[in-house]
Amino acid sequence: MIIVLIGYMGSGKSTIGKALSNVLNMSFLDLDNVIEAHEKKTIADIFEDSGEIFFRKKEAELLRKVIEENEDLVLSLGGGTPCYSQNMSFLNDTNNVITLYLKVSIGSLSNRLYDEKSHRPIISHLSSKEALNEFIAKHLFERRAYYEEAKVTLVTDNLTVEETVEKIILSLF
Ligand code: S3P
Repeated sequence: MIIVLIGYMGSGKSTIGKALSNVLNMSFLDLDNVIEAHEKKTIADIFEDSGEIFFRKKEAELLRKVIEENEDLVLSLGGGTPCYSQNMSFLNDTNNVITLYLKVSIGSLSNRLYDEKSHRPIISHLSSKEALNEFIAKHLFERRAYYEEAKVTLVTDNLTVEETVEKIILSLF
């Protein structure tokens, strides 16, 4: 089984993915890390040097490669992965894949993202918390339909990592 975690930036995909993979004794991959290793550059440098369209092409290509090369895996996607290149249809049409949306409120997302926006090219230009909040509200409105294609949606506001992992396991088995 491949458990694919999706959600907005700051929704905890990587932290929860790692914890979930430990509990289930499965391997873990973060698609952003796979892209960085493949390109030998940070995500911020890929955006800066080659632009977002190049990044989205690599993202779709490496997503397919990871899914084809693994049988049992917890995989965290980037916040934008579900929204490009028919990636959600590809995932939902693949037999052993379960897509899971970690849903977090706009307020929690902007609190979490404000201090660590510098390495995230999509939001690094936003200088105030109000601007970040407004950006996330609009962006989530555009992205929500893709995220909601996930087979399972979990609201994870106010839950600890351990509680979230427990909820995921209960929803899967
Ligand atoms: C992006 C989210 C990032 C990364 C890239 C683009 C997005 O991943 O893939 O900066 O479009 O939301 P995280 O959600 O892991 O920060």
